[in-house]
Amino acid sequence: MRKYHIITYGCQMNEHDSENIAGLLEAMGYEHIDDPFKADVTVINTCSVRDNADKRFFGTLGQFKKVKKSRPDFVLCVCGCMPQQTRVVAEINKRFSWVDIVFGTQNIAEFPVLLEERLRTGRRMRAIVDNNPDISEDDMRPLRMHRHKALVNITYGCNNFCTYCIVPYTRGREKSRMLSDVCDEVRRLAADGVVEIMLLGQNVDSYRDAAGHSFADLIKAVNEIDGIERIRFMTSHPKDISDEMIDCFRTCDKLCHNIHLPVQSGSDRILKRMNRHYDRASYLKIVDKLRETAPDITISTDVIVGFPGETDDDFEQTLDIARKVEYDSAFTFIYSPREGTPAAKFKDQVPDEVCHERFDRLVDVMNEISLRKNQEYKGKTYEVIAEGISRNDDKVISGRTDGFKLVNFTSDKSPEQLMGRKVKVEITESKTFSLEGREVD
Ligand code: SAH
Ligand code: SF4
Ligand code: F3S
Repeated sequence: MRKYHIITYGCQMNEHDSENIAGLLEAMGYEHIDDPFKADVTVINTCSVRDNADKRFFGTLGQFKKVKKSRPDFVLCVCGCMPQQTRVVAEINKRFSWVDIVFGTQNIAEFPVLLEERLRTGRRMRAIVDNNPDISEDDMRPLRMHRHKALVNITYGCNNFCTYCIVPYTRGREKSRMLSDVCDEVRRLAADGVVEIMLLGQNVDSYRDAAGHSFADLIKAVNEIDGIERIRFMTSHPKDISDEMIDCFRTCDKLCHNIHLPVQSGSDRILKRMNRHYDRASYLKIVDKLRETAPDITISTDVIVGFPGETDDDFEQTLDIARKVEYDSAFTFIYSPREGTPAAKFKDQVPDEVCHERFDRLVDVMNEISLRKNQEYKGKTYEVIAEGISRNDDKVISGRTDGFKLVNFTSDKSPEQLMGRKVKVEITESKTFSLEGREVD
């Protein structure tokens, strides 16, 4: 059997694209292999959200030169967000001639044809469109990374054009899938043993399908589907989140009490320059409403430090909002200029040393809060859905609470008995990024 391997660099949307690509390859009769250098077909699914993602990608491409030389039949494919930029495709064509197939974020369905054509003719194949109005995955049969939980796209693309962000240029204009198509997919997943779903969109709150359904309508519809036990979603945008959506945390029993609500900055001046369309007061109001509706809700966020023009005072505002909200966890990033975005042309870029110094301070503050919040879990019992075996110790099972806390726990039962099941776990130890515990009856 011919073998394939997929390397994935990006966000969950990118991961889900890889699941779809794996599904297409399996349908063509390919079988997965762990080693990308021994496969017959290797696909590199790229990300370009920050510069380090770029660098890693070009480094990886270089490593495949030897493989191609020793095995001319080997097929190297590149897809994802990088090739949506013309400069990247030009660079691949010029410097990495051993790349056989390049396809875009909205050309995934064409991949089998490109691959067959490549195998038949030996020609290099390229298929990249900027904005495919007919993007659809209703016919895709993704090969899921997890048996019991699944990623489900509800929107594609993004219309928000935050001034730092490349995504609107790599994923095209925002399109919402029909509520009925999303529900059909979730029903299929439930029938296949999936108990937890993650609804995906760059801004789930701006979901609106052709029949006028809102994101709240979608959550309510998915909440009715038998077999599904947990519903999660990401990413929420503070400018579009509705009271009706927030109320779902009260009315929809399967909706997990957890939200990822990127703040990006705590300074109104910077938020304006980022084109985020909310300010700290309105953000804090949303947090209040969330906690009034679901007092046990956990909140995570994304923060960028060193955005052009960020002063010490702006940064203090970011630390301040972090302390006010008390995030359960946070992804913190140093601003990375992306060619083609407005902010990359701003004159007042912040020097590297300043960025790093602020970044370290922010991480310290965030970690201290995370640890403090996690300590409140100690001695209490939570329902955890078992997901896997700990990387460090095969007697330790890992899973997540409703609030998305990672729990490593011990049990008398075997991992096979526990996977995908709700387990009652008493928390015995709290760390910054995880909890430890043991199963109780
Ligand atoms: N659609 C999501 C996030 C997509 S990108 C949202 O709107 O929140 C994930 C995170 O990467 C962003 O939230 C932001 O914090 C970060 N990010 C995006 N572009 C960046 C850049 N140019 N430099 C640094 N961080 C960036
Ligand atoms: Fe990027 Fe902003 Fe769109 Fe998120 S909402 S993907 S940060 S442009
Ligand atoms: Fe990266 Fe594209 Fe996702 S740039 S973060 S893979 S949408």
